[in-house]
Amino acid sequence: MNEQNLKIPNHVAIILDGNGRWAKERNKKRTEGHKAGYENLKKISRHILNQGTKVLSVFAFSTENFKRPPEEVNFLMNLFIEGFKKDSQFFNEENIKVVFSGTKENLRPDVIKAMEEMTEKTKNNTLGTLNICLNYGGRQEIIDAINKIKETDAIIKSEEDFAKYLYN
Ligand code: FPP
Repeated sequence: MNEQNLKIPNHVAIILDGNGRWAKERNKKRTEGHKAGYENLKKISRHILNQGTKVLSVFAFSTENFKRPPEEVNFLMNLFIEGFKKDSQFFNEENIKVVFSGTKENLRPDVIKAMEEMTEKTKNNTLGTLNICLNYGGRQEIIDAINKIKETDAIIKSEEDFAKYLYN
């Protein structure tokens, strides 16, 4: 297949991994790997969304990741806050809307605030959407969906019916 025949996918998903290995290979601290991973994510988002893909989902931090050493979790949370604060300008210049998927449960209020500010500041951008999955987990998502359904009188007959209550 030549390049002209390649179809641009509407939605691309990436599991962010290997920050630690990247750092180790360069005799750097794991935290340096996370920093570099975040900077790389910005370049990747710009590149992919400029090719015509409409949504890029990145799996950044799972509910399971809270089991990592507290210093590492703390470092990551601070990196998210710092990044979201400084980069709303970057995403606005690139016309990229940033949204988050996952549960807010157990996230520090200052992290939630930084996420909400980023969403608010970039909500009118139209090039494409960067969907950052932060504090996501398959099982947690099912529990959250069940609780949402319980608040309604909906009857779930199909996967499509159920999907309406999953993270979007
Ligand atoms: C996995 O690498 C990476 C993480 C759990 C950290 C999350 C991602 C970033 C900091 C970059 C993107 C940031 C945002 C805000 C989207 P690992 O530490 O498991 O690496 P290893 O498998 O090589 O040990």
